[in-house]
Amino acid sequence: MDLKRTFKDLDFFDVELYKYKVVEKINFLSIEEREEILKKANYNLFNIPSKYITIDLLTDSGTNTISDLQLSNMMLYDESYAGASSYERFLQAAKNFCNKEFIFPVHQGRAAEKILAEILTKPGDIIISNTHFDTGFAIYKHFKANPINIPTPYYKDEKYNFKGNIDLEKLEEMLSKENVSHVVMTITNNALGGQPVDLENLKQAYRITKKYNKIFVIDGCRIAENAILYKKITNSNKTIKEIIHEYTNFCDIFYMSTKKDGIAHMGGFIATNDELLIPKIRQLVILYEGFPTYGGLSGKDMELIAKGLEEALDEDYLNYRIKQVRFLGDLLKDMGIPIIEPVGGHAVFVNASEFIKHLKPEDYLGQSLVIELYRLGGIRSVEVGYLMYSKDAIMNLVRLAIPRRTYTYKHLEYVAYIFSLIKENINNLKPYRIIEADELVPHFTAKLEPVY
Ligand code: F0G
Repeated sequence: MDLKRTFKDLDFFDVELYKYKVVEKINFLSIEEREEILKKANYNLFNIPSKYITIDLLTDSGTNTISDLQLSNMMLYDESYAGASSYERFLQAAKNFCNKEFIFPVHQGRAAEKILAEILTKPGDIIISNTHFDTGFAIYKHFKANPINIPTPYYKDEKYNFKGNIDLEKLEEMLSKENVSHVVMTITNNALGGQPVDLENLKQAYRITKKYNKIFVIDGCRIAENAILYKKITNSNKTIKEIIHEYTNFCDIFYMSTKKDGIAHMGGFIATNDELLIPKIRQLVILYEGFPTYGGLSGKDMELIAKGLEEALDEDYLNYRIKQVRFLGDLLKDMGIPIIEPVGGHAVFVNASEFIKHLKPEDYLGQSLVIELYRLGGIRSVEVGYLMYSKDAIMNLVRLAIPRRTYTYKHLEYVAYIFSLIKENINNLKPYRIIEADELVPHFTAKLEPVY
């Protein structure tokens, strides 16, 4: 008999890594009730109160379940305006996580994006990325700059493991010809399926960018998930922390929203070793966020993040995390639902254009699936496609983001069951049109209606 039975050896068995200490009751409504709610919400799931949601896969951002140790550490909070001891613990944890010397807390990822956009760009500048996430994309546009996505040409190739990569040839060509202010690598590549970025690709992108003397930025809010995927793909025997540091060694600025891999509810930070950038960042942190030893965060937030960043380096946790995401991906795949494969770190992305053949992207086919998932099962997901990016959409996807340590394997089986019901009547999915939406962030604000 094989006596080795650590969590890692139990890869063949779907067992939870955590047990409950506090629970929250979920609401199961009737389909008729949900139809009413959808109408009132103008068919935009951002408008639905969470009490009407059964399984919330809208985002993995800030929706994480905290650990007993995070909760108890939170009680050590020090809310001093300057030099709080909670800041000291936050600082140590952030430095340990990303291996940069200077750390500026901010209230969440987009606060970092706003500060970096203001420091690094002028109107008309181009900002290249493997794929910008929607907040950064909109913020650069707001600053009258041009965010451009150049994902690897292999991003649709099922056998390609690092679909989060950037197109190195295009990068060099654009840097040599265009007015580029800086390059942002999003790790993992959220908008393109939560796909990992290869260390080699990152290193080369960094070298090319530095050849043209431009700033290289990592948006690393899911870099721990990238590290476990990288470790598995390459059979590396390095620790998660070592792998993360190998990535962060190749950037001028690292920033992250700690609402993701920080396993916290709020927060983020900007990190650098570049002494010339420090006064510029510090000044804007003070103007927009708060004194640089709290930067928009309470002491309680900083305590939660400090412990969360430590827990994010635990390999058992990361194995459990990506195994759960893969579990849902496998269930859907086995039912013949087209998904982005291999599944990435934080979410399963359904390829809505392949699933719903009778509708066009302009019918908001992804949103149509999002609406049906709610109507039939109370599941909240998000469209990543024509509604989010309009004509800039690279693909039409529906993201099922899995909050960290929050749902069980059984919950995910329920999600797959609802998909099986949708599949049976896929041709009933309706086209939608937008009645009203804000210009820069249409998916958050759009009011929609069925075309018939
Ligand atoms: N960068 C990436 C890659 C993100 O996924 C997000 C947020 C941000 C930056 C902005 O961070 O929310 O703290 O301001 N993504 C969330 C999501 C909202 O659902 O994927 P934030």
